[in-house]
Amino acid sequence: MSFSPRIDAALGAALRRGAAAPAPAQLARALDYACTPGGARIRPTILMSVATACGDDRPAVTDAAAAALELIHCASLVHDDLPCFDDADTRRGKPSVHRGFSEPLAVLTGDSLIVMAFDVLARAGAEAPDRALGLVRCLSERTGMPNGICAGQGWESEPQIDLGAYHRAKTGALFIAATRMGAQAAGQDPEPWDELGDRIGAAFQVADDLRDALLDAETLGKPAGQDGLHGRPNAVAALGLEGAARRLDDILSGAIASIPSCPGEAMLAEMVTRTARQLAPRAAMRLPGE
Ligand code: IPE
Ligand code: IPE
Ligand code: MG
Ligand code: MG
Repeated sequence: MSFSPRIDAALGAALRRGAAAPAPAQLARALDYACTPGGARIRPTILMSVATACGDDRPAVTDAAAAALELIHCASLVHDDLPCFDDADTRRGKPSVHRGFSEPLAVLTGDSLIVMAFDVLARAGAEAPDRALGLVRCLSERTGMPNGICAGQGWESEPQIDLGAYHRAKTGALFIAATRMGAQAAGQDPEPWDELGDRIGAAFQVADDLRDALLDAETLGKPAGQDGLHGRPNAVAALGLEGAARRLDDILSGAIASIPSCPGEAMLAEMVTRTARQLAPRAAMRLPGE
C-alpha cells in the first residue's frame, strides 16, 4: 500500500497555509523547496502503516501526525546542512536550502517548518483533542532536549560522544515518534510500539552509515563519505563493512519480532523488510527472506 498521496496532500495543505498572503515570497518558496519533492518519506510511511495496522479510525488525525513528523524531519535537514553544522551543498539531489536561497532564509525555513509542525497538530485538536495533545507531547519530546534531534545534534559539540545516545537522539528519536504517533493517531496506547520504532531507527542508522561509506554523492543526492570526513563515530568505523551489515541483519530480525500483535501485523513485517530493501546498499547485506 502506498501512503505517498496521503502524505503529500497533508504536507501540501500545511505548506499552502504557510504561503498565504501576506507571506514573504522567498521564504514561502524556500519552505516548499525544503519539503517537495520529498526523499523516501520513510517516517510518515511508518507512522501511517502503524496507524493502519491499529485501525486508523480518525484518518484526519493520522494525516496531521504524518505531516507534522515529516515537517520536523525536513526542518532538521535544512538546519543540518548549514555551514555551522555539516556545511553540505546538496540535499535530495539539488542545492541545499542555504545554497539555493541564503543562510538567513535557511535558518528561517527550519524554524518555520518546526512551528508549522506543531500548528498542524494543534489544528487536529478540533477533531480529537486528547489524541492531538498526546501527539504534541510525543513530537516535542522527540524533537528537543534531552532525547530528541536537538540533543542528537548537540552531542556533536561534546568532547566525548556517547555513540548509542548520539544515534538514538539524532536518528532514532523520529523513528520512535513514527511508531508511537501512528498508534496514538489511531487512539491506541503508544507504549508497546516503542521497541519497533527504536529498532527501525537503529537499522536505519546502520544502513545510512553503510550508504555514506559505500555509495557516491550522485546516487545519494547529498555529499558522500561525510562520517569519515567529519570524524564522526559510525557503525562502519566501529564494526567494519561486514560487521555493520551483520549488525543490520540482526536488528531487522529483532524489529520484525518486536511488532506488537495487532490486525496489521503481517503488513507491518512486510513494510519493515521493504523499507530495509529500499535503504540498504545491495552490496552490503543479505536481507531476511533473500
Ligand atoms: C536523512 O534521512 C537524515 C538522517 C537521519 C540520516 P532520510 O534518508 O530519511 O532523508 P530523506 O527524507 O529520504 O531525504
Ligand atoms: C542528520 O544526520 C540527522 C538530523 C538530525 C538532521 P546526518 O548529518 O548524519 O545525515 P545526512 O547525511 O546529512 O543526511
Ligand atoms: Mg549532521
Ligand atoms: Mg548531515
